[in-house]
Amino acid sequence: MGDSGQGHDPIARFVELFERAKSDEPFDATVIALATSTPSGQPSVRIVLLKRVDERGFAFFTNYGSRKARELDANPRAAFTCYWPASQRQTRVEGTVERLPADESDAYFASRPRGSQLAALASRQSEPLESQSALMSRYLKLQWQHGEDQIERPEFWGGFLLVPERIEFWRNGQYRLHKRVAYVRDGDGWTETRLYP
Ligand SMILES: Cc1cc2nc3c(=O)[nH]c(=O)nc-3n(C[C@H](O)[C@H](O)[C@H](O)COP(=O)(O)O)c2cc1C
Repeated sequence: MGDSGQGHDPIARFVELFERAKSDEPFDATVIALATSTPSGQPSVRIVLLKRVDERGFAFFTNYGSRKARELDANPRAAFTCYWPASQRQTRVEGTVERLPADESDAYFASRPRGSQLAALASRQSEPLESQSALMSRYLKLQWQHGEDQIERPEFWGGFLLVPERIEFWRNGQYRLHKRVAYVRDGDGWTETRLYP
């Protein structure tokens, strides 16, 4: 099926391209631009890291009190795009978002370096911060409080799963005749459509 997807499963196709990008790209291929929006339709976008992809969808981790999380609580729809310059590919994903099961967030949190765990605990992500030194003192206080103890995942931090409804693969082509193939969820399968560039 060449560039138009592996079989008719665009998630499997994404995984194949993602694995290749992780080894071939000169920078971090897990970087994605994630868009959320308020119920009234004001979009916002920021970079997060795509940490896991499986047949359910696309997972990233964040603070559940952050602006993005508050937007997702109110309007559980999101989109992301990633660009892999070495392979000249862009992929766009849109769908609905749910929280990852707690045990999966626990497992991911436990796998993080201790400094990142403490930083997640210290940050009230997206809230106003009076000074950088206030953040550092929160961090140092938590470091002191935890000593050598294992750090549990706080309830305010965890994963989201973006369950895709639409996935589009774009590949740079000669004369700007780029290849675009969109997959839209259709019952248990996907409808595949080529698009003008
Ligand atoms: C390379 C890079 C990776 C990032 N990865 C994450 C991430 O995985 N999770 C996260 O919450 N924020 C991540 N951030 C920070 C976000 O871009 C953003 O500043 C933060 O999540 C707050 O966004 P919000 O106020 O819209 O919720 C990353 C930023 C950069 C530049």
